[in-house]
Amino acid sequence: MEKARCLYVDDEDVNLITFRAAFGREFDILTASCMDEALDIFQKEQGIGVVVADQRMPEGTGVELLERIFELDPDPARIILTAFLNETDIIDAVNRGRVYNYILKPWNEKELRIMLMRAVEMYALNSENRCLMRELAKHNANLQAVNARLITDMMRREKAEEKIGILSKRVVKLVEDERARVAQDMHDEFGQILPAIRYSLEALKSGIGEGDREHGVLFEDIDVLIDRLGESARRIISELRPETLDFQGLAPAIKASIQGVMARHKDILVDFNVAGMMKELQPNVQIILYRVFQECMNNIVKHSNAGNVTVLMTFCQPSVILVVKDDGKGFDPAKDRLAQSGNGNGMGIGLMIMQERVASVDGTLTIRSADGKGTMVKAEVTV
Ligand SMILES: Nc1ncnc2c1ncn2[C@@H]1O[C@H](COP(=O)(O)OP(=O)(O)OP(=O)(O)O)[C@@H](O)[C@H]1O
Ligand SMILES: [Mg+2]
Repeated sequence: MEKARCLYVDDEDVNLITFRAAFGREFDILTASCMDEALDIFQKEQGIGVVVADQRMPEGTGVELLERIFELDPDPARIILTAFLNETDIIDAVNRGRVYNYILKPWNEKELRIMLMRAVEMYALNSENRCLMRELAKHNANLQAVNARLITDMMRREKAEEKIGILSKRVVKLVEDERARVAQDMHDEFGQILPAIRYSLEALKSGIGEGDREHGVLFEDIDVLIDRLGESARRIISELRPETLDFQGLAPAIKASIQGVMARHKDILVDFNVAGMMKELQPNVQIILYRVFQECMNNIVKHSNAGNVTVLMTFCQPSVILVVKDDGKGFDPAKDRLAQSGNGNGMGIGLMIMQERVASVDGTLTIRSADGKGTMVKAEVTV
């Protein structure tokens, strides 16, 4: 086993020789006869675990030397050797030299050996502690770096989410603006062209003779087709942007649409109710709730086989809640959401868009459904 290193400082050569002779077998003894030489050795040599210094030396005290040693490296144990001991010396040794212990001259070999051994153990413990502290500090620094990275990532994600939110609001608005524009264009175009066709047809009709039954029937057919075209155009325009919504509000628009659905689908009965104190809604909230209702009705017609549907609009401070419930075959929302995210069989995106629309006005959308148990969609928006 490697011997522990001990530096002994004394201005009397004979003391140095005696010390080396006494402890040289157990310790690797380094000696210095003055303070400068001691400091020089201490800085050059590695692993000195104990420094023993004579208190009275020509150029200064042992305590002064130990104080400087401490500044260079606090780990080694420091021992003072002194012929006389007074209170001031002890206080000085503890405060300035931070001595581990002191021993009176002439020293007792056995006593000093035990003290040196303990001092070496203390040095080993100190070094180990310091190593652990360094490791701990390194881990702490790493942890702080990881924490800082996590916080930065979180902030980035929040910013990205914020941007997506803003973007999604813009997209919803753009889509609605575009629908309104297309509805307007269709209204203007069909409004001019259909009457023009009808006038031309009337003109043609007046040109044929009374007995021309063949052409008469053809003209009747074209008349019916023009009516149907007009009816379809009105329905499409109304789906794109129901006029009632802008002029009369959400409840009348939903009511009008329900009448249309029931006229087209005689097997579906829709019950519509409004609860609470009705209040005027912001146009963007109004159109979003209308779109939720529309998509629910589309889904009911397309997928549910439902016979009964209830639509309930509730005004309760500070929200408006729209619930559309059917008694149809139901579905598994979790599975269908997977399908929508591209993992399934390419089903629609109606529910997802509904979710995004409601989120764009900071509202919440809840979908409850189960096989054979019908479906309930609830949209809640603070107004
Ligand atoms: N009321 C309902 N009753 C039964 N199944 C429904 C109902 N609403 C939705 N679903 C089921 O959820 C799926 C997803 O609906 P979603 O509206 O997202 O898509 P879609 O209606 O199939 O197509 P898209 O809406 O894009 O035209 C539907 O394919 C259907 O299986
Ligand atoms: Mg759908």
